[in-house]
Amino acid sequence: MELHDIRNEYTKRVLSQNDCYENPILQFEQWQKEAIHAQVNEPTAMNIATVDEQGRPNSRMVLLKEVNEQGFVFFTNYLSRKGSCIERNPYVALTFFWPELERQVRIEGKTVKIPAEQSDKYFATRPYTSRIGAWASEQSAVISNYKSLLAKAALVAAKHPLNVPRPDYWGGYLVVPETVEFWQGRPSRLHDRIRYRKESDNWIRERLSP
Ligand SMILES: Cc1cc2nc3c(=O)[nH]c(=O)nc-3n(C[C@H](O)[C@H](O)[C@H](O)COP(=O)(O)O)c2cc1C
Repeated sequence: MELHDIRNEYTKRVLSQNDCYENPILQFEQWQKEAIHAQVNEPTAMNIATVDEQGRPNSRMVLLKEVNEQGFVFFTNYLSRKGSCIERNPYVALTFFWPELERQVRIEGKTVKIPAEQSDKYFATRPYTSRIGAWASEQSAVISNYKSLLAKAALVAAKHPLNVPRPDYWGGYLVVPETVEFWQGRPSRLHDRIRYRKESDNWIRERLSP
């Protein structure tokens, strides 16, 4: 089969402005719940795009760990490539794709570090080996081989056999949304797109052409 022969018709659902909450966070929570209920593989996985010092975009997947009235929280290494991009330019874009529901959500906004105590709290809930991994991995750096990574992890584990403290270079970011768009696939590529944009303290809801 040729790539150009691969195509799906989207027929499952519709999205009308009237069915959407006034607040995009509530709307997101509703869709997130439905994605989990539909047993979407990795329902919390999202792409995050950042911009480097030359104005060039780069992106990768991360996991959403919390949604609250302020925005969307994920965790990473602050010294990673994404971390250094965010330090220079806090504006990011997030994208979720839930194929089983024929849905996409796009979020654009400004990123802030969450308080250290909140990162401590989440770090403590991670499995032991993940906490060791946070110390062993100098995320995004070039390393000579995998063996050296395992050796570093073993050293860290020997040092912290029980309690692993959070490295201060590892923690959470909160993405405070300025626009949130909900996309529902429809037949004939005439999809539904409802975008919320923040104006002063209000959310304006608009339908976009597909
Ligand atoms: C499904 C999935 C979830 C991921 N979740 C995270 C995450 O929550 N935090 C993280 O730092 N990296 C996560 N990664 C790894 C990142 O995609 C990426 O490789 C890593 O963060 C380094 O990115 P950077 O060099 O651009 O900073 C995940 C990868 C996948 C495929």
